[in-house]
Amino acid sequence: MSEVTAPDKDLERKFQAKFAIVRRVSSTLVEQALRSDESGGKPDLALAREQHDKYISCLRNLNIDVHEFDSDDRLPDCCFVEDVAVCHDGIALISRPGHPTRREEVDVVRRVLSFDLGQKVVDMAEVEGATLDGGDVLFTGKEFFVGLSKRTNMKGALFLADTFSNYPVSPIKLSDGSLHLKSFMSMAAPEVIAVGSSKEAQKALKEIECKATFTYRKITLPDDGAANCVYVNKTLIHCSHEDFPESVKKFEELFGHTLNRIEMPNSEFKKVDGALTCRSILIQKKPKA
Ligand code: GLY
Repeated sequence: MSEVTAPDKDLERKFQAKFAIVRRVSSTLVEQALRSDESGGKPDLALAREQHDKYISCLRNLNIDVHEFDSDDRLPDCCFVEDVAVCHDGIALISRPGHPTRREEVDVVRRVLSFDLGQKVVDMAEVEGATLDGGDVLFTGKEFFVGLSKRTNMKGALFLADTFSNYPVSPIKLSDGSLHLKSFMSMAAPEVIAVGSSKEAQKALKEIECKATFTYRKITLPDDGAANCVYVNKTLIHCSHEDFPESVKKFEELFGHTLNRIEMPNSEFKKVDGALTCRSILIQKKPKA
């Protein structure tokens, strides 16, 4: 990949956030959070909470006003707020999460987006049978790609296309073993897609390259989990070298000192299929009254 040059200001604005929503970690995360397998062991609750505190402080240090909500032990996955809303340009799409145990998570988030942050709320609950997890939604600043997965169906993708009708929206069929599109892919910078090396990740990337309206540079990382990163306020928050040493080397090689980068541990959330983007909803600003 050639050196990353500064994107235009309008595009950079799409990656600016003034607000974020986060939710504390439930004590039931350890035993009851959804996970594709048990191979990573159980999360350590105290360490997970410490890692989440670090994440929240990092957002605050980037001048983001963080709205932080209590956990709810009835909702073991509730700290993964990304899945319950997709927010851009003053519009908040409230999803119907694909897994039934996660549906109640939307209530708190809907309230804050509408009443505190003045977003125009559009609720997927109105469409019979539509499901969508925010983890399946990749926004490039210019267009959307929506993973069709066990959690997100075509009705959900069409609802998103209707909601954000100013942008091209392309559905991307995920392989059966994949949880979310962003489990192995995300924006590392404007116009730069970070992607993992697995067969599933590369297959999804191929489909994206075929369907994309715009062109992107890509960074291929050895680890799928490392390809989930957060680019916000001109800063790349990516995995830590303890979690993915080879992938961090790649970030260093490619971005060097040209980009403000922050390493963020995620080991405890990874054990229950949680990634960095999962832990917040970023909101550009309050729309003008
Ligand atoms: N544990 C995250 C999810 O499966 O939704």
